[in-house]
Amino acid sequence: MTQLQIFLDIATEAALAAGVVLQGYLGKLEDTVIEKGRPGDLVTAADKASEAVVLEILHRHFPQHSILAEESGKIGNQNNEFLWAIDPLDGTTNFAHQYPFFAVSIGLLINGTPQVGVIYDPLHNELFRAAAGLGATRNRRPIKVSETNDLGKSLLVTGFAYDRRETSDNNYAEFCHLTHLTQGVRRSGSASIDLAHVACGRVDGYWERGLSPWDIAAGIILLQEAGGKVTAYDNSPLQIDSGRLLGTNGYIHDILSHELTQVPPLSSWK
Ligand code: IPD
Ligand code: CA
Ligand code: CA
Repeated sequence: MTQLQIFLDIATEAALAAGVVLQGYLGKLEDTVIEKGRPGDLVTAADKASEAVVLEILHRHFPQHSILAEESGKIGNQNNEFLWAIDPLDGTTNFAHQYPFFAVSIGLLINGTPQVGVIYDPLHNELFRAAAGLGATRNRRPIKVSETNDLGKSLLVTGFAYDRRETSDNNYAEFCHLTHLTQGVRRSGSASIDLAHVACGRVDGYWERGLSPWDIAAGIILLQEAGGKVTAYDNSPLQIDSGRLLGTNGYIHDILSHELTQVPPLSSWK
């Protein structure tokens, strides 16, 4: 077994265990839902319990590795070549409302590049896995991106970050522009599920700003291994800390990148 396969299997063990924890809290959060800072940016007992399970498993197997976890921040020596980026509950707002889209997302960056990714959506019993050169799977079966090559026939998905009330750079203009140019733009409320759905061909493209590495590390390698393309909005190489990501099936990438860099101001929308 290769080193990447071992990382993939341990990440899978952690994601599945965390998924069991999440299901135990669903509908039973009571008064554990707290706003972290910005309105709507929630943390719950489920986020914390899920993260604790992931951290215990990863630390037990890879005590030297660095960790960046949403609720705990940076853990361990951050200069290690191996960095796990963990979102223990991607879709917290959905979870708090029992809206059925949320996942555990665990990505491994090696020297800054996503190489292993596991996204587990426990309610739909969907386990997405990928590692560099090993392909992408859904419930252990290979997946690939859609073949839609016409933006006008595409279905897209996006999201809106928690700072959306504080800035006009809040993705509203992009959402309106692309809603007019496509068959539709969905908003699931879970960035990792959005990327997984591009990877398995349910939607043709995804873009979002205000993202953190833990939202996207796993999804990046999953989409790349499924045959898709991941860049910055302007088609330049993605910087994972930039917060902005464009991920598509590859066929609509250039035109979607072009449209994202040509969005008219919201006031001209009609
Ligand atoms: C959020 C979700 C959402 C996206 C936000 C993320 P969280 O993560 O992925 O889809 O639009 O930008 O912060 O807070 O539920 O882990
Ligand atoms: Ca998240
Ligand atoms: Ca989260």
